[in-house]
Amino acid sequence: MALLDIVKAGAPVLKQVAEPVGKVDSKLRKLMDNMAETMYSADGVGLAAPQIGQSIRLVVIDVGDENGLLELVNPVIVRKEGCAVDQEGCLSVPDVYGDVERAEKVSVDYINRWGKKKHLTAGGLLARCIQHELDHLEGVLFIDVAKSIKHNAAKNGKE
Ligand code: CO
Repeated sequence: MALLDIVKAGAPVLKQVAEPVGKVDSKLRKLMDNMAETMYSADGVGLAAPQIGQSIRLVVIDVGDENGLLELVNPVIVRKEGCAVDQEGCLSVPDVYGDVERAEKVSVDYINRWGKKKHLTAGGLLARCIQHELDHLEGVLFIDVAKSIKHNAAKNGKE
């Protein structure tokens, strides 16, 4: 495995709408592994492919709950419920945190690392992280949608 460079805010790739993944193969699985290693090494809880310079619809997430590492290919949020405001950070926007309004609970359809269709319902930090990462696939950063921004505030989770 290898650590990948994390692209920082200002890079055009972070503003692009990412392309769907066509085929889940060993090359994609290797990219997932490298993204997960990069995320863990940076002490993050989520990482989207555009953040490592690849404009494809792939994200990895691990918020430290019972789900463990999640690898979501072509994820689509199919249901949103409730509303919650909490602090977010992002590996592409170092030392900046902000309060972002998100759905409290989401259901997401995706394809896993073996090409199987999966469905997941999540609340709390995982729901927040899924929404943050899927925003990356639309070229949206949390600083674009935050209600307020703080610099060098205490961290909640870097996504
Ligand atoms: Co982020």
